[in-house]
Amino acid sequence: MIPRASLFLLLLLLTGCTNPQSALNAEGSSALALKDLILLIVLVCTLIWLAVVGFLLWSLTRRREAARQDPQTERRMRRSVYTALAITALIVAGLTLASFNATRHLDAGEGPEVVIRVKAQQWWWQFTYPNADGEPAFQSANELHIPVGRRIRLELEALDVVHSLWIPSLAGKLDMIPGRKNILTLQALRPGTYRGQCAEFCGLQHSHMAFAVVAETAADYQRWWLAQAAPASLPQTEEARAGQAVFMAKPCAACHTIRGTEARGSTGPDLTHVGSRATIGAGLLERTRGSLAAWIADPQTLKPGNNMPLVPLSSDELRQVSAYLDALK
Ligand code: CUA
Repeated sequence: MIPRASLFLLLLLLTGCTNPQSALNAEGSSALALKDLILLIVLVCTLIWLAVVGFLLWSLTRRREAARQDPQTERRMRRSVYTALAITALIVAGLTLASFNATRHLDAGEGPEVVIRVKAQQWWWQFTYPNADGEPAFQSANELHIPVGRRIRLELEALDVVHSLWIPSLAGKLDMIPGRKNILTLQALRPGTYRGQCAEFCGLQHSHMAFAVVAETAADYQRWWLAQAAPASLPQTEEARAGQAVFMAKPCAACHTIRGTEARGSTGPDLTHVGSRATIGAGLLERTRGSLAAWIADPQTLKPGNNMPLVPLSSDELRQVSAYLDALK
């Protein structure tokens, strides 16, 4: 019984090692403090469990004696109860102190911050990157880029219902509440791509409200920032040019922005550099020309209830629009 339980625990821990969305795969300063706390609590609880089960087995296999009611037995029993109470109180106090200590490390690091505004809505994420003066420089969706080693200040808002931002590898979760701004600071210690997920049930597509966090070196981040701040590149192929014309003529431009064109809508995600993102639909599908076409052709089957309407397009138009969007690097 005991070896099997330990094996299960070990397997449980190992599953966290490769998962891009696991608090045990800690790559941020806050996440490391939380991981230590999780492991400590698991260890203490395992020891308690083993002690309780061991004691139970021991008492079951013991030769039965008739219960005596003499004063000596009573004293012994009372002593046992007080000892157990004292040990329990010590354990709870120890875990409480460890928890306070971990909480102190949740405000990640010191020094100048990189501020990014995050807006959650059913069912996607909007990221606004301010320029040096604090004015919005550009927006992106469902892919958050941050420089490694810097203190990141995420200003969290929700536009419709309560959501919750959680990047288990980098930090603890924080709720996003309509009408209120919450602040989450975090710091990535190593470059990598981590998965973030909405952690508060927010409707039908709650589980399809994910995003990628790309932590990169200062130089890579700077390169990415400048590329994203630039307006969309001009379509290079005949097909993409036709796609741009279709996009502007159809209702697409009323809901989406593509900077550098007349598309200025703000209902849906900013698509200025959609071709540079790894996924579409808030982590729903890998971004390829094919998945873009599939999404546009039938968004309600892929993600029922989302705000993207079905825009009737011919198969040629569909091919052209997906070629245009895919080329928006
Ligand atoms: Cu947003 Cu769950």
